Amino acid sequence: MHTSLIGLLSKRRSVLSKNLSTPGPNKEQLNTILDIAARVPDHRKLEPWRFIVIEGENRKRLGLKFSQIKQKQCELSADQIKAEQNRYTYAPTVIVVVFSPVEHKTPVFEQLLSCGAVCQHINLASLALNFNSQWVTNWCSFDKEAQKELGLKPNESIAGFFHIGTAECTPKDRNRPDLKDKVAYYQS
Ligand SMILES: Cc1cc2nc3c(=O)[nH]c(=O)nc-3n(C[C@H](O)[C@H](O)[C@H](O)COP(=O)(O)O)c2cc1C
Repeated sequence: MHTSLIGLLSKRRSVLSKNLSTPGPNKEQLNTILDIAARVPDHRKLEPWRFIVIEGENRKRLGLKFSQIKQKQCELSADQIKAEQNRYTYAPTVIVVVFSPVEHKTPVFEQLLSCGAVCQHINLASLALNFNSQWVTNWCSFDKEAQKELGLKPNESIAGFFHIGTAECTPKDRNRPDLKDKVAYYQS
């Protein structure tokens, strides 16, 4: 048994993007995270997902663009504008997972499940490299103009933004489901 892996998985926690800071993954570590993300169960090998990496100054630029999009739609307070502008400035690396379904006999539902596996592999690979992360969708994932800014095609959608960095403080644990409410044993 890989006791260290079980230990890692059984203590896994997300860290709020606002509580993430440097260091983040270097180029080699980022490639490892992306390699592992792409190593998921994928029925008929359709690869219905792709990645967009946001780093450095581009994090600030994307926040500015998104805050402009939001301000066209809503009246925002100065604090809200600042929060939108700073959305991607905390964690040093942000990976966008794009769900890119393929026209195929394999149901879109299965393709979406494969994409979900990609997403959690990003969290787990980050953790295994001693980083912390958070899977976030927020309004930006569902906004057509925001999607266009990121170059999505009409059939694509955003599965999540993965903020990856180092936790400023260790998060408290979260209540987890009671397995007796979740597990049934089939008996015929
Ligand atoms: C598809 C998806 C979207 C999510 N979007 C957000 C979000 O927009 N904002 C947020 O605070 N948490 C979001 N979360 C939840 C966090 O990623 C995280 O799972 C949650 O805070 C619980 O922490 P844990 O992973 O340690 O259990 C999302 C989770 C999933 C699966």
